[in-house]
Amino acid sequence: MPTSKVHSKLDELKARNAQAELGGGEARLAKQRAEGKMTARERIEFLLDEGTFEELDKFVTHRCQDFGMQDQKPIGDGFVTGYGRIDGRLVYVFAQDFTVFGGSLSETNAQKICKIMDQAMRNGAPVIGLNDSGGARIQEGVMSLAGYADIFLRNTLASGVVPQISAIMGPCAGGAVYSPAITDFIVMVKKTSYMFITGPEVIKTVTHEEVSKEELGGAMTHNAKSGVAHFAVNNDRECLALIRELLSFIPSNNVDDPPRKPTRDPVDRADEKLNHSVPEESYIPYDIKDIIHTVVDDNYFFEVQEHFAQNIVIGFGRFDGMPVGIVANQPAVLAGTLDINASIKGARFVRFCDAFNIPLVVFEDVPGFLPGTNQEFDGIIKHGAKLLFAFAEATVPKVTVITRKSYGGAYCVMASKHIRTDMNYAWPSAEIAVMGPEGAVNIVYRREIASADNPEPVRREKVQEFKNKFANPYVTAELGYIDEVIEPQLTRKKIITALHMLENKRDSNPAKKHGNIPL
Ligand code: HXC
Repeated sequence: MPTSKVHSKLDELKARNAQAELGGGEARLAKQRAEGKMTARERIEFLLDEGTFEELDKFVTHRCQDFGMQDQKPIGDGFVTGYGRIDGRLVYVFAQDFTVFGGSLSETNAQKICKIMDQAMRNGAPVIGLNDSGGARIQEGVMSLAGYADIFLRNTLASGVVPQISAIMGPCAGGAVYSPAITDFIVMVKKTSYMFITGPEVIKTVTHEEVSKEELGGAMTHNAKSGVAHFAVNNDRECLALIRELLSFIPSNNVDDPPRKPTRDPVDRADEKLNHSVPEESYIPYDIKDIIHTVVDDNYFFEVQEHFAQNIVIGFGRFDGMPVGIVANQPAVLAGTLDINASIKGARFVRFCDAFNIPLVVFEDVPGFLPGTNQEFDGIIKHGAKLLFAFAEATVPKVTVITRKSYGGAYCVMASKHIRTDMNYAWPSAEIAVMGPEGAVNIVYRREIASADNPEPVRREKVQEFKNKFANPYVTAELGYIDEVIEPQLTRKKIITALHMLENKRDSNPAKKHGNIPL
């Protein structure tokens, strides 16, 4: 072929590539940047290891012939899709380009997403979605809705097979929210992102409530109030950096092991301060996060859902380089009681860890489930059961450390020996009973106390009797429900030794289509 022809063909390819990379054009890209947002391509570049992005379907265009759309066919159709590497590991990624028809979802770019999701499933790699979209492409009607449903199906089938992470970096409204909602983690960028099923205008018409977009579905609303999101970050860069960090704790798929990160932190590092971290008086609160930070590798704890249901703490840490999921009651908030939100938060995290072979480490100080009509009317029975179900069905290595209270149903729920926890430790400060001594005495000795000439000393004496019997870990240790009562300062060493012992653990549940977790 003559050189000039080859050149012209190459020039055409370059021109088409350049056109595709322009998205909705310079003006719209500039507007996007002026709003403090990165463009779709900048986001992908920043997310992935340098130079690893391989784009697919760059030349796809939409097929809509209505509403003048036949005259506007931007190359790529507003979604950038492909694969690349994070810390050298394969990931699939899609980014919605708001500069092209507001990042709206057409039939064809739904097909682009489905293609990478299918590849991710075949090749066992995470899918990361960078969402910034006005929702269904209005001009395409039901074809766009069909595209969403195709994605929802894949989100569902991929759940528990490959990790799925959603970044919300702009609008995400209507039924479009359900794709991120099915994924494992949602990161929201403060001030520029929002999620809702119906926006402020519809709400005003239907319920006469007036609410701003930010208040209705901004990052802090979903991080602190609804619990829909898992992380709130200040800007796009923080969002993408957080996703890289999150992936460092989790395996690429459900048959891989989590990636290990070598550490110089000594396995047997003992910290004497742990021996004094639980206050003498059992009603005085303390911060369980201090204990977590003290025992994990390099004191590094990556908290998940930091702003929601703070009476339970969840997140990732490492022990001798091994990633674990940590679930801990937080005595500093609501005395560490389990309520509806805490149960749901804990249960979903436990199930994520179990699906992806991430061992669970539990720190327990729980006076029970939160009493109250609100809790009962809103279904604490059903929601509390989620956490119980999640811990009971989990077959990954499970290690529990009771630091102080372990009362009532919460004793059973918080990864007790009876629901297949491998190693159950207790600190000498542990108190394990059906309920606290005050409550117990008021029930068991009610008549005796009421009929006494001077009831108060009788009551106090009975409370002390109860404390002597149950405000310690030894009754439970005698029964073998606690494997060992340990010196608090040795907690790190004990957990690491247990996790190494459990490295080849094999356990399974009965064959079934799926269980019926109380939803
Ligand atoms: C086609 C869309 C679009 C959409 C925005 N655009 N949304 N085009 N389909 N869904 C276009 C706009 O026409 C505009 O084109 C450009 O994108 C930028 O939009 P603006 O409105 O100028 O931007 P902004 O002021 O920032 O407002 C963003 C927005 C707003 C809040 C997202 O565009 C909006 O309300 N869009 C509609 C949202 C919506 O109701 N979507 C359907 C939701 S229901 P030009 O050419 O002017 O630049 C849904 C169902 C999913 O998604 C169901 C799944 C089961």
